[in-house]
Amino acid sequence: MPGRFPAAWLDELYARADIVQIVSAYVPLKKNGSRYWGLCPFHHEKTPSFSVNAEQNLYYCFGCKAGGNVVQFVQEMERLTYPEAVEHIARQMHIPVPAMQEDPDYERRRTQRERLLAANRAAAKWYHAQLWLPENQRLLDYLHNRGLDDGTIRKFGLGAAPDAWDALTTELENQGYSQEELRLAGLTVVKPDSRFDMFRNRAIFPIIDAQGQVLGFGGRAMGDIQPKYLNTSDTPVFNKRKGVYAANLLKKQRNLNRIILVEGYMDVVALIQHGVNGVVATLGTALTNEQARLLKRYAPEIWVSYDGDSAGQHAIVRALDIFEQEDIKARVLFFPDNLDPDEFIRQRGLDAFQKLRPLRAAEYLLQRAKEGLDLSDDEGRMEYARRSAEILRKVKEPIELDHYLKNLTVDTGISREVLVQQMGITMPEAQQPQRAVLRPLRRNQGEKTHSMEEKTLISILASGLAPENAIRAEDFDTPLIRQLAEKLLSGMSPASILSECENDQDRQEISDLFALDIQINAENAASMAEQCLNTVRVHRLQKQIDEISANLNNLDNENKQDELKQLMALTTELNRIKRLVH
Ligand code: CTP
Ligand code: MN
Repeated sequence: MPGRFPAAWLDELYARADIVQIVSAYVPLKKNGSRYWGLCPFHHEKTPSFSVNAEQNLYYCFGCKAGGNVVQFVQEMERLTYPEAVEHIARQMHIPVPAMQEDPDYERRRTQRERLLAANRAAAKWYHAQLWLPENQRLLDYLHNRGLDDGTIRKFGLGAAPDAWDALTTELENQGYSQEELRLAGLTVVKPDSRFDMFRNRAIFPIIDAQGQVLGFGGRAMGDIQPKYLNTSDTPVFNKRKGVYAANLLKKQRNLNRIILVEGYMDVVALIQHGVNGVVATLGTALTNEQARLLKRYAPEIWVSYDGDSAGQHAIVRALDIFEQEDIKARVLFFPDNLDPDEFIRQRGLDAFQKLRPLRAAEYLLQRAKEGLDLSDDEGRMEYARRSAEILRKVKEPIELDHYLKNLTVDTGISREVLVQQMGITMPEAQQPQRAVLRPLRRNQGEKTHSMEEKTLISILASGLAPENAIRAEDFDTPLIRQLAEKLLSGMSPASILSECENDQDRQEISDLFALDIQINAENAASMAEQCLNTVRVHRLQKQIDEISANLNNLDNENKQDELKQLMALTTELNRIKRLVH
């Protein structure tokens, strides 16, 4: 969010802010190698993977991948907005805060956001008050009949949208909100010659984020009215793919050892009322990668607890896949007799709940793989072995893998060696030293083969240890990385590049890249850069050569001669560089 503080003043603040000192106020740090290390404040862990790079003023957790600059650290810890965190640091360092700069566009966006959040908050308050009025008794009765007590109703700020056309709209207009603001917030539906409340005759579940802001609402219909749940559609302050229901409560629970992810708002509310903590739900959509990354910050494991129907089962497989992609340990928690979590906890209570044993992700998938197969039959056993090999490929822990393999040899009669062969375990890329070192940080399957070199190069640039003029922006093919290179080469610091990030995802990707510099030091930077540059060039030359060769037969004689000459030159150059690489 640039444009609020004068740039020169911000630069000075970034230069003077001592991240080690600031982080140490929250997390004890110990120096080891070029970095400081401590237990990550953003996820639960027993051995330190949270690191501080004092020179660059950056933090990065190798476990949960939380990362950013010193201001962003204070933002996360203190739940502050960007300008508030800047002021917080300035005060600590006794640097006077200058008058704000005018940025009409920023101001307009900011004020609009604040207006919509204020409208949402006013709506939530009003809905909640409605619940206790005699004319809305049915709605309160509904919640009571679903087993909720008044304490829980208050804790979640549940409310009642009365059975009327425009009661909320009229109220908020009287409070000074414009029709346009109410429309933008998703509270009012505006038609050419009428306007009416979005939520009518529904029990209201306000959706509150970790900072306590009301982003939107879910409304449960009375009786069989469709849709059963109505949710605020996306607005300038609400994106259903980014948040989770009950994130505000998650924030208050430190040191959770697992999060339970359920399907419905009622499931969250009921489980929490009965004393289960760390429960969230998605907001009427399938789980997204962004939500998974958000959850990763709060606990080391996530238990997926969806309905037992086939849609639910499908959603579990999708969710497990997403957790796998995000490197999050997941389990599956089933409720017996097709009960949903809400029904289970009400009927059987907390003790029964605590006795439930969640399945490990692979255990669940293996169980499913068996379905529909006849294991007394050769074909059935073979198919089961095939499906299982596919699943086991993703199991990282040798002990867990061994356990499954043992069971599988019994169930299928196929030897361990053959099962392992089927899994196609070949040790990838172990020969190449620079790749082997960087491998733990590699993610995203299907990445271009040379992107690891690009990433290494960018981190060498970020470390400030690159030999002068050795690396140029043209050396990068990936647009994001090339842009970063341009910024770093123009003298921008990694910390200020991060402070320009508009969204969390960019910030995380860039933090990931900058954190690769952990393997770079003054001794190896130059040779690493050279190796990577050579590899990038080899890839490019090879690509050019392939393109020319593929096209050769389509050319007439004269052009062919030219292309052949070009091909010779490229091949000579390729061989020259290859000799340097090996
Ligand atoms: N949902 C939705 N829109 C619908 C139906 C469901 O957004 N038309 C979402 C809601 O977030 C809901 C969740 O999916 O909480 C689970 O839906 P479902 O299993 O149908 O409902 P329950 O939570 O069991 O609802 P209830 O117990 O209130 O009947
Ligand atoms: Mn239900």
